Amino acid sequence: MFGLGAKWRTDGSDRVDRFGGRRLVEDLDGKVALVTGASRGVGAATAVALAEAGCHVVCAARSTRDHPQRTAGTLDETVARIEATGREGLAVPTNLAVDAEVEAMVDTAVGHFGRLDVLVNNAAITFIGDLDIPMDRFDLVMQVNMRAPLIALRRAVPAMRAAGGGAVVNVSSVMHRGGSIGWNNLARAHQYSPLAMYAQSKLALTMYTRSLAEASGASLTALSVHPGLFATRLLRIYGHSGLPGEEAAPILTTLSSPTCAVVDGGYYDGLEPARAAALVGNARARDRLDKLTTRLLGSVLD
Ligand SMILES: NC(=O)c1ccc[n+]([C@@H]2O[C@H](COP(=O)([O-])OP(=O)(O)OC[C@H]3O[C@@H](n4cnc5c(N)ncnc54)[C@H](OP(=O)(O)O)[C@@H]3O)[C@@H](O)[C@H]2O)c1
Repeated sequence: MFGLGAKWRTDGSDRVDRFGGRRLVEDLDGKVALVTGASRGVGAATAVALAEAGCHVVCAARSTRDHPQRTAGTLDETVARIEATGREGLAVPTNLAVDAEVEAMVDTAVGHFGRLDVLVNNAAITFIGDLDIPMDRFDLVMQVNMRAPLIALRRAVPAMRAAGGGAVVNVSSVMHRGGSIGWNNLARAHQYSPLAMYAQSKLALTMYTRSLAEASGASLTALSVHPGLFATRLLRIYGHSGLPGEEAAPILTTLSSPTCAVVDGGYYDGLEPARAAALVGNARARDRLDKLTTRLLGSVLD
């Protein structure tokens, strides 16, 4: 499908019906997951659901009890909900806009639990309705939505391989389909549009996910997913009505499961493989993006 092969993450002897979600507890039992943007919304719900499925969960975001952001929701609250499931939760306060903090986030997770099996790159931002927007905010959108996931991956992939394999779930958006890449102007200077910036970041992440899957071999699966529309802070760029963020959690948890059959490198709409933007299937465009990110970040996969 879409030029990619379905990949089972195990030898196939323990296949599950991903729509029914059977045996998820066994599948994820004892695994370690890292979820970014876990202070609220989709990320908090997913972190708790992964714990309910048996994972120990590392929760990353900025907001903590001692240093809350303006929007409600903290890492401490998510960790308390995780611990109520009987699994261990670890809050790792992280500003994803700072490369060194992203690296430290993964190092802390691996150092604490000694392994990493699942990485959910969920955190994202946009700036909307701010007509006097400083240009560095555009950079910040790319930093949090695209650069941070790549830096996290660079750090996480060796640990996932050492753990015998892993699952990368990059939370994208259907909006990536309307995006374009400003090849010579990633910060989109003089092209003011928060939506274009958000769409570009999600398109780049979706393209990169495909490249990662192709490059990473059998030990790792990577997919991107539009989780649906949810009544969180980010909903305002999509519309006015969305489901409770909790309803994203079963989707992301199922796609993280080691025995869930996935289209490796695929783009999902909920639990369904879906058609991604044309650029995602365009090997030359992805090669160009890989070269650009390598120039900006260094190589993600050794
Ligand atoms: N909501 C929707 O309808 C919808 C639709 C399609 C796709 N999505 C995608 O779903 C994902 C989750 O979105 P959401 O709706 O749950 O958004 P949200 O409620 O706004 O949550 C965003 C999360 O990202 C974290 N974050 C923001 N800036 C950060 C930074 N600099 N460093 C560390 N963490 C940061 C926030 O935590 P702190 O503020 O505590 O740092 C928060 O936990 C995103 O990738 C989004 O694009 C959402």
